[in-house]
Amino acid sequence: MRRRVAVVYNEPYASRYDDACEQKAVEGVMEAVTAVHQALIELKNDAVLVPLIPPFEEARQKLAALMVDVVFNLFEGFCGEPQTEALVPDALTELGLTFTGCQADVLRLALDKAKVKVILKSSGIPTPDFQLLNPETLNTFLLGYPCIVKPRSEDASHGISDKSVVRDFTSLKRQVILVSEAYSGGALIEEFVGGREFNATVIGNAQHVVLPVSEIVYTLPPGIPKLLTFAAKWENDSIYYDNTKVHCPAEVTPEVRQYIADTALATFRLIGCSGYARVDMRMDEAGKLNVIELNPNPDISPGTGAARQAEAAGMSYAQFVDLIIKLALEKKKHDRQNTHLDRRGQTGADADTAAYARI
Ligand SMILES: Nc1ncnc2c1ncn2[C@@H]1O[C@H](COP(=O)(O)OP(=O)(O)O)[C@@H](O)[C@H]1O
Ligand SMILES: [Mg+2]
Repeated sequence: MRRRVAVVYNEPYASRYDDACEQKAVEGVMEAVTAVHQALIELKNDAVLVPLIPPFEEARQKLAALMVDVVFNLFEGFCGEPQTEALVPDALTELGLTFTGCQADVLRLALDKAKVKVILKSSGIPTPDFQLLNPETLNTFLLGYPCIVKPRSEDASHGISDKSVVRDFTSLKRQVILVSEAYSGGALIEEFVGGREFNATVIGNAQHVVLPVSEIVYTLPPGIPKLLTFAAKWENDSIYYDNTKVHCPAEVTPEVRQYIADTALATFRLIGCSGYARVDMRMDEAGKLNVIELNPNPDISPGTGAARQAEAAGMSYAQFVDLIIKLALEKKKHDRQNTHLDRRGQTGADADTAAYARI
């Protein structure tokens, strides 16, 4: 079936990330846009590119004028304003347009890493102990060292460097001041869980599959903290870039693979994700998995996390894109059925299983 699909994204432009030399991450969205566009052509869909820039009211008008079957949502927030990420799915919902991926409330929640951690902890899903600190509250620090100081509300490894891992009060103070000044959401301090690092992508609405798991493998020289820094992702002349590799599928026992998949799935369900999302996890010394972060709008550029895992599952990139679109369309159909059933005083459970049997 020939579908009309709009690819909606944040058009890269100069932003505050220039000052932090972090502009490369902003431009990264174009890799996903180009690849999804290409896949849509391959799938014989009618594709239109919809770049968005502020002010939001103008962007909203652009969305309101769309005559499409589905919106492929690659919008990560206006450049330098990650907190605007949920505005697009909010508007699309209001406009009654079908769109891919997670709903606005999930995107909004995930942008506050501290809130997600509270929810995870309250449900018994392990996540590192944490504190929110600013330069005035530093003397209330009560975690043990080493810990990591990171922005509370950023993604794409913005604000993450070797210096983020701190082992004494002087470096803690330096990083809290730096992060508080540079990133509007403030500083999140977590116990540093330094074991093996994995990420897993969950796909589905009511029924799910967990794609083959990736491991981030560090070959850094001794003394350099092992973590996925901004340099590892975006600066191809850095020691981190050269010594941070992704293995997919991860070399793990079937039991460990199941443990990782179960943890990712539990997180996906608990937070109420739909379509697709990636969960970042890390083991402690005893082999216990900790959820580091939920990415309900993960990068899907070819070669990165979710796309690579889909490939390892045997999907071509076009098939992966097609599946994401089908899930969006099915969810819409399912939501309509649910509303109808709920009005008649029944639950939506029957519709759930019937509509997703294919996944
Ligand atoms: N508590 C932690 N313990 C160990 N490593 C961590 C912790 N928090 C973050 N990291 C490292 O920093 C990277 C980026 O952190 P994350 O919270 O996932 O931020 P982003 O949203 O930028 O991806 C992780 O992939 C991991 O390598
Ligand atoms: Mg992450």
